[in-house]
Amino acid sequence: MKMMVNEMKVRLTAQSENEGTARSVVSVFAASLNPTIEQLADLRCAVSEAVTNCIVHAYRGESDRSRCYIYISVRLYDNGEISVEVADKGCGIPDIEAARRPLFTTDPDSERCGMGFAVMESFTDSLKVKSKVGQGTTVLMKKSFRR
Ligand SMILES: Nc1ncnc2c1ncn2[C@@H]1O[C@H](COP(=O)(O)OP(=O)(O)OP(=O)(O)O)[C@@H](O)[C@H]1O
Ligand SMILES: [Mg+2]
Repeated sequence: MKMMVNEMKVRLTAQSENEGTARSVVSVFAASLNPTIEQLADLRCAVSEAVTNCIVHAYRGESDRSRCYIYISVRLYDNGEISVEVADKGCGIPDIEAARRPLFTTDPDSERCGMGFAVMESFTDSLKVKSKVGQGTTVLMKKSFRR
Protein backbone atom coordinates (compact mmCIF):
# COMPACT_ATOMS: atom_id res chain seq x y z
CA MET A 1 0.00 0.00 0.00
CA LYS A 2 1.34 3.39 -0.96
CA MET A 3 1.74 5.99 1.78
CA MET A 4 1.45 9.73 1.42
CA VAL A 5 4.71 11.41 2.38
CA ASN A 6 3.98 15.08 1.75
CA GLU A 7 1.02 17.31 0.98
CA MET A 8 0.49 20.89 -0.18
CA LYS A 9 -2.67 22.94 -0.54
CA VAL A 10 -2.62 26.26 -2.36
CA ARG A 11 -5.45 28.69 -3.06
CA LEU A 12 -4.85 31.20 -5.84
CA THR A 13 -7.08 33.86 -7.33
CA ALA A 14 -8.21 33.03 -10.87
CA GLN A 15 -6.10 35.57 -12.74
CA SER A 16 -3.90 34.84 -15.72
CA GLU A 17 -0.63 35.66 -13.95
CA ASN A 18 -1.33 32.78 -11.56
CA GLU A 19 -0.97 30.18 -14.31
CA GLY A 20 2.80 30.60 -13.92
CA THR A 21 2.53 30.72 -10.14
CA ALA A 22 0.69 27.40 -10.06
CA ARG A 23 3.12 25.71 -12.44
CA SER A 24 6.07 26.89 -10.38
CA VAL A 25 4.83 25.98 -6.90
CA VAL A 26 3.72 22.53 -8.04
CA SER A 27 7.03 21.76 -9.71
CA VAL A 28 9.11 23.01 -6.76
CA PHE A 29 7.02 20.85 -4.45
CA ALA A 30 7.26 17.81 -6.76
CA ALA A 31 11.04 18.08 -7.05
CA SER A 32 11.60 16.09 -3.85
CA LEU A 33 10.40 12.97 -5.72
CA ASN A 34 13.41 13.35 -8.04
CA PRO A 35 11.55 13.43 -11.36
CA THR A 36 13.44 13.51 -14.65
CA ILE A 37 13.45 16.83 -16.52
CA GLU A 38 10.96 15.34 -18.94
CA GLN A 39 8.60 14.05 -16.25
CA LEU A 40 8.64 17.45 -14.58
CA ALA A 41 8.05 19.27 -17.88
CA ASP A 42 5.06 17.02 -18.58
CA LEU A 43 3.60 17.73 -15.14
CA ARG A 44 4.09 21.47 -15.58
CA CYS A 45 2.22 21.35 -18.90
CA ALA A 46 -0.68 19.38 -17.42
CA VAL A 47 -0.97 21.74 -14.43
CA SER A 48 -0.89 24.76 -16.75
CA GLU A 49 -3.78 23.42 -18.82
CA ALA A 50 -5.91 22.66 -15.76
CA VAL A 51 -5.28 26.06 -14.18
CA THR A 52 -5.77 27.92 -17.46
CA ASN A 53 -9.17 26.27 -17.79
CA CYS A 54 -10.19 27.64 -14.39
CA ILE A 55 -9.04 31.12 -15.38
CA VAL A 56 -10.51 31.12 -18.90
CA HIS A 57 -13.70 29.06 -18.56
CA ALA A 58 -14.76 28.50 -14.95
CA TYR A 59 -15.21 32.12 -14.01
CA ARG A 60 -16.06 33.51 -17.44
CA GLY A 61 -18.05 36.71 -17.08
CA GLU A 62 -16.81 37.34 -13.54
CA SER A 63 -15.19 40.76 -13.51
CA ASP A 64 -14.07 40.74 -9.86
CA ARG A 65 -11.34 38.10 -9.97
CA SER A 66 -10.24 38.83 -6.42
CA ARG A 67 -13.16 36.67 -5.28
CA CYS A 68 -12.66 33.79 -7.74
CA TYR A 69 -10.41 31.00 -6.51
CA ILE A 70 -8.46 28.04 -7.84
CA TYR A 71 -7.81 25.32 -5.23
CA ILE A 72 -4.75 23.15 -5.82
CA SER A 73 -3.92 20.07 -3.72
CA VAL A 74 -0.75 18.13 -4.32
CA ARG A 75 0.14 14.84 -2.68
CA LEU A 76 3.40 12.90 -2.90
CA TYR A 77 3.56 9.16 -2.23
CA ASP A 78 6.36 6.87 -1.15
CA ASN A 79 6.09 4.88 -4.40
CA GLY A 80 7.11 7.93 -6.46
CA GLU A 81 3.59 8.91 -7.43
CA ILE A 82 2.18 12.43 -7.38
CA SER A 83 -1.44 13.49 -7.46
CA VAL A 84 -2.53 17.00 -8.37
CA GLU A 85 -6.09 18.17 -7.89
CA VAL A 86 -7.17 21.46 -9.47
CA ALA A 87 -10.62 22.67 -8.47
CA ASP A 88 -12.78 25.73 -8.98
CA LYS A 89 -16.20 26.91 -7.86
CA GLY A 90 -17.09 28.26 -11.28
CA CYS A 91 -19.74 27.55 -13.90
CA GLY A 92 -19.14 23.80 -14.24
CA ILE A 93 -19.16 21.63 -17.37
CA PRO A 94 -22.54 20.40 -18.69
CA ASP A 95 -21.15 17.47 -20.73
CA ILE A 96 -17.79 16.22 -19.46
CA GLU A 97 -17.45 13.50 -22.07
CA ALA A 98 -17.82 16.02 -24.89
CA ALA A 99 -15.53 18.53 -23.18
CA ARG A 100 -12.75 15.93 -22.92
CA ARG A 101 -12.81 15.18 -26.65
CA PRO A 102 -9.82 16.59 -28.54
CA LEU A 103 -10.69 19.78 -30.45
CA PHE A 104 -13.87 20.38 -28.42
CA THR A 105 -14.02 23.98 -27.27
CA THR A 106 -16.80 26.34 -26.27
CA ASP A 107 -14.48 29.19 -27.16
CA PRO A 108 -13.64 28.71 -30.86
CA ASP A 109 -13.36 32.42 -31.65
CA SER A 110 -10.43 33.09 -29.34
CA GLU A 111 -7.06 31.38 -29.50
CA ARG A 112 -8.42 28.19 -27.83
CA CYS A 113 -8.10 24.98 -29.78
CA GLY A 114 -9.80 22.47 -27.50
CA MET A 115 -6.66 20.52 -26.63
CA GLY A 116 -6.34 21.18 -22.89
CA PHE A 117 -7.86 17.95 -21.63
CA ALA A 118 -6.05 15.96 -24.34
CA VAL A 119 -2.74 17.44 -23.14
CA MET A 120 -3.56 16.70 -19.48
CA GLU A 121 -4.44 13.14 -20.43
CA SER A 122 -1.34 12.46 -22.50
CA PHE A 123 1.10 14.06 -20.03
CA THR A 124 -0.18 12.18 -16.97
CA ASP A 125 -1.02 8.55 -16.14
CA SER A 126 -4.63 9.19 -15.19
CA LEU A 127 -7.11 12.05 -15.46
CA LYS A 128 -10.47 12.28 -13.71
CA VAL A 129 -12.89 15.14 -14.20
CA LYS A 130 -15.84 15.85 -11.92
CA SER A 131 -18.14 18.77 -12.46
CA LYS A 132 -21.53 20.16 -11.55
CA VAL A 133 -23.12 22.99 -13.49
CA GLY A 134 -23.27 26.08 -11.32
CA GLN A 135 -21.04 24.53 -8.65
CA GLY A 136 -17.65 23.97 -10.18
CA THR A 137 -15.15 21.52 -11.55
CA THR A 138 -12.45 19.27 -10.10
CA VAL A 139 -9.67 17.76 -12.18
CA LEU A 140 -7.58 15.00 -10.60
CA MET A 141 -4.32 14.00 -12.27
CA LYS A 142 -1.91 11.27 -11.24
CA LYS A 143 1.57 10.64 -12.46
CA SER A 144 4.33 8.24 -11.51
CA PHE A 145 7.89 9.56 -11.31
CA ARG A 146 9.39 6.07 -11.22
CA ARG A 147 12.13 5.68 -13.82
N1 LIG B 1 -12.71 24.44 -15.19
C1 LIG B 1 -13.65 24.53 -16.16
N2 LIG B 1 -14.83 25.15 -15.94
C2 LIG B 1 -15.77 25.25 -16.91
N3 LIG B 1 -15.62 24.75 -18.16
C3 LIG B 1 -14.47 24.12 -18.45
C4 LIG B 1 -13.42 23.97 -17.48
N4 LIG B 1 -12.41 23.29 -18.05
C5 LIG B 1 -12.80 23.02 -19.29
N5 LIG B 1 -14.03 23.50 -19.56
C6 LIG B 1 -14.80 23.35 -20.82
O1 LIG B 1 -14.25 22.25 -21.55
C7 LIG B 1 -13.86 22.67 -22.85
C8 LIG B 1 -12.62 21.91 -23.28
O2 LIG B 1 -11.49 22.25 -22.46
P1 LIG B 1 -10.02 22.13 -23.08
O3 LIG B 1 -9.05 22.62 -22.10
O4 LIG B 1 -9.85 20.75 -23.62
O5 LIG B 1 -10.07 23.11 -24.36
P2 LIG B 1 -10.09 24.70 -24.38
O6 LIG B 1 -9.76 25.25 -23.03
O7 LIG B 1 -11.38 25.15 -24.99
O8 LIG B 1 -8.92 25.04 -25.41
P3 LIG B 1 -7.33 24.97 -25.08
O9 LIG B 1 -7.17 24.29 -23.75
O10 LIG B 1 -6.74 24.17 -26.21
O11 LIG B 1 -6.88 26.38 -25.05
C9 LIG B 1 -13.67 24.18 -22.75
O12 LIG B 1 -13.85 24.83 -23.99
C10 LIG B 1 -14.75 24.56 -21.72
O13 LIG B 1 -16.01 24.66 -22.35
MG1 LIG C 1 -8.14 24.58 -21.97
